[in-house]
Amino acid sequence: MHPWFKMSLMPNSLTIDGVRSEVDRLARSSKSAHELMTQLVALLHDRMLKYNWVGFYMLDEGSKPPVLVLGPFQGAMTPHTRIPLHQGICGAAASTGKTVVVDDVAKDPRYLACSLETKSEIVAPVFNRGKVAGELDIDSHFAAAFSAEDQEFVEYCAALVGKKLESSPA
Ligand code: SME
Repeated sequence: MHPWFKMSLMPNSLTIDGVRSEVDRLARSSKSAHELMTQLVALLHDRMLKYNWVGFYMLDEGSKPPVLVLGPFQGAMTPHTRIPLHQGICGAAASTGKTVVVDDVAKDPRYLACSLETKSEIVAPVFNRGKVAGELDIDSHFAAAFSAEDQEFVEYCAALVGKKLESSPA
């Protein structure tokens, strides 16, 4: 975004800096990881204009083989409610424990389509005591929507959920 536009026209409530303080407030007030995830997806979907589908997938290790299960989300219903670890951008992020950013989903053979409008995607793992417990998945209708600043912010949100999981009874 052009800095002039950012400074003069974009309300602070629609920028990463503005939304981060609300994210922090939710992290302090929420009583469980599930509550925090539910509030986070609503906030990010509402305020971050290029975050057009926002959801969590949580790792079900009891399932053989382990699978990612759709958790709280905002946006259109997805056909991908259970994703094996060897499939999709989601599977790639969970199995490597690394954030995956895809600027053009049409060019990534791993991509599992959720909506025809999706052009780019970011998936950041959520860690609980050093192990992948789930992930925060965000799709955009805009190509290359996720800058390095977005990546840092999405990882920050995922880490807050990880901290909440760690502070909950095991
Ligand atoms: N696109 C994801 C699947 C989840 S939907 O985007 C909500 C993937 O490739 O794993």
